[in-house]
Amino acid sequence: MRRPMVVANWKMYTRASDAYILATTIRNMLADVDGIETVICPPFVWLSEISEIVKRDGKVNVGAQNMFYENEGPYTGEVSPLMLCDIAKYVLVGHSERREHFGEHDLEVNEKVLAALKHGLSPIICVGERRKNDSADMAIKQLKESLTHVPKNRYKDIVVCYEPNWAISKGKANSEAAPVDRALRTIGKIREIVLRDCPILYGGSVDQKSVLDFAKRPEIDGVLVGSASLRASVFIDICKTWADAKSFKNDIQLEEGEK
Ligand code: PGA
Repeated sequence: MRRPMVVANWKMYTRASDAYILATTIRNMLADVDGIETVICPPFVWLSEISEIVKRDGKVNVGAQNMFYENEGPYTGEVSPLMLCDIAKYVLVGHSERREHFGEHDLEVNEKVLAALKHGLSPIICVGERRKNDSADMAIKQLKESLTHVPKNRYKDIVVCYEPNWAISKGKANSEAAPVDRALRTIGKIREIVLRDCPILYGGSVDQKSVLDFAKRPEIDGVLVGSASLRASVFIDICKTWADAKSFKNDIQLEEGEK
């Protein structure tokens, strides 16, 4: 069965002390919340320390926000899968901010996916159309290219996040998540590609309010949360909503299966 997930993307926010307090608070407040996997993706510089903080409990895992695909070499400023594999479980690849500001393209995303899998990291592949008027084909093309040479039996080790660029808050208040129906249409197409066992997340302006509509949908396994993950109480609410909705649905599915 696919695991329900809530992933925090702290982007380029937090100073050291904020990061440690935020991670400790999230770890402590999620101690009683069962049924979901929570992942924190902090800036690289705090990754090791946060991995230690959350490891004490085991319910929260860490992910990197990016990585290079080579193991080592003269690549100033880059971080390799070998450096990450002992401290992180996940790595975000192809985030739209990487594509937009750092020119990351599908070929590179594919190299990163292959390198992550080779080193036991689960890539969270972010795909999504750039503008509101763009069709879902853009996300599907990104996904197909990022999966080149990935054997189908490894799809269960991958997470895909449908995150349309136009729905990302970009630090703005009152940003709006994509309409659930529209997200579901693209997620349906993604599911046809990644088959049964790969979790599919939605990302883009998820907060305590918008999360409710996504949580109700069995087609969506989790959410990737940016701005709203920087406030512990808000993020915990999102995690609790997801846990409640998903365990409720599992009960229903079980009852239906028993009939
Ligand atoms: P947002 O960011 O929740 O602030 O829209 C999501 C993301 O970019 O991962």
